Amino acid sequence: MLKGKHIILGITGGIAAYKSVSLLRLFVKSGAEVQVVITPAGKEFITPVTLSALSGKPVISEFFTANTGQWNSHVDIGLWADAMVIAPATASTIAKMAHGVADNMLVTTYLSAKAPVFIAPAMDLDMMAHPTTTRNLRQLRADGVRIIEPEEGELASHLVGKGRMAEPQEIHDTLLEFFNRRKSPLKGRKLLITAGPTYEKIDPVRFIGNYSSGKMGYAIADEAARRGMEVTLVSGPVAVSPEEAGVNVIKVESAREMLAACEKAFPTSDVAIMCAAVADYAPAHRSDRKIKREHDEVPVIELVKNPDIAATLGGAKHPGQRLVGFALETDNERSNAIEKLKRKNLDMIVLNSMNTPGAGFGVDTNDVTIILPDGTSTTSGCLPKKEVAAIILDSIESSYAG
Ligand code: CTP
Repeated sequence: MLKGKHIILGITGGIAAYKSVSLLRLFVKSGAEVQVVITPAGKEFITPVTLSALSGKPVISEFFTANTGQWNSHVDIGLWADAMVIAPATASTIAKMAHGVADNMLVTTYLSAKAPVFIAPAMDLDMMAHPTTTRNLRQLRADGVRIIEPEEGELASHLVGKGRMAEPQEIHDTLLEFFNRRKSPLKGRKLLITAGPTYEKIDPVRFIGNYSSGKMGYAIADEAARRGMEVTLVSGPVAVSPEEAGVNVIKVESAREMLAACEKAFPTSDVAIMCAAVADYAPAHRSDRKIKREHDEVPVIELVKNPDIAATLGGAKHPGQRLVGFALETDNERSNAIEKLKRKNLDMIVLNSMNTPGAGFGVDTNDVTIILPDGTSTTSGCLPKKEVAAIILDSIESSYAG
């Protein structure tokens, strides 16, 4: 429930504005107090009378109310709010927000708001895909605005693509989740997480590595930051970046560098999640010069074992610390995962089966089984990695509740 929450609902001039009525009703039904702020263009799509009747408050659009001359204080509204939601957010409003163009009541209120801000973009697919929109959204993300991604589907232009505003229920649920997470037992705790592959150098141009994209680890890091954790992400070489501004990324290359960064951060961490696909072996000797082809003999690369980071932290773990590992298996998945959980002194292991379609390296989805030391387990089903990240953190939260 959103009982007693103060929400500013910003409405801009897009066809999807008709859906804002349902969103307003959902907020009110959930017990929230809603102040609608609409742009002049928004009023072309939906009437303030409908919105004020449903919210029980006069709708604000201009700096002054025309008939009384009363000044609408964007500062007061901004301070009153527990959250601000702009749905739909047009390309134009997104651009104004990104650049601080405060030429209407809505953007002015955005600049005064101290509360978290959510936007649900809605526009035609080409506008959505335009580099300008991409750049403006990236800027807003960096400024801490939370983007509720538009969906793929038929648009007002009858073209099909990404740009349809998220459904009102999804926007409502995002807010609900946000307020629930603020009460998360993980809030204020420190997380150390590893992600991505490690690269073990053979010579200046070659390495031993693996296909890990880092997507799962970065999704967990972002979700943990959203729940208020202080996140240190020790990452091997990957192409992804965190979405949340608060994630502290330490870039490493080899398993030994990853271990050194983890040993430094672990003593002050409350939770450590070992999501990296650490190379098990490294070349025993690294050539400082490129190994040339003209030699008669085919080079033989002697390998040495890399340190096991999870097991090292497992050995150093003190009471109260939670250590979570991953297991990537192709056979005897469950028994192998349980054996790893015990051997590495973990509190939880997340089993990834290479046999499950839609799970594993490179893809945006995953399907995991979370196993606890007492053998109890839960399975996520095939879901976007973001949602799997939330399920993994829910399990860690439960360990604090119980
Ligand atoms: N791990 C680690 N350091 C290593 C190897 C693995 O910290 N040198 C961690 C991984 O991040 C993961 C867990 O240990 O959380 C299990 O990794 P996995 O590759 O499945 O297992 P291994 O221990 O490497 O065993 P095997 O390759 O035999 O399956």
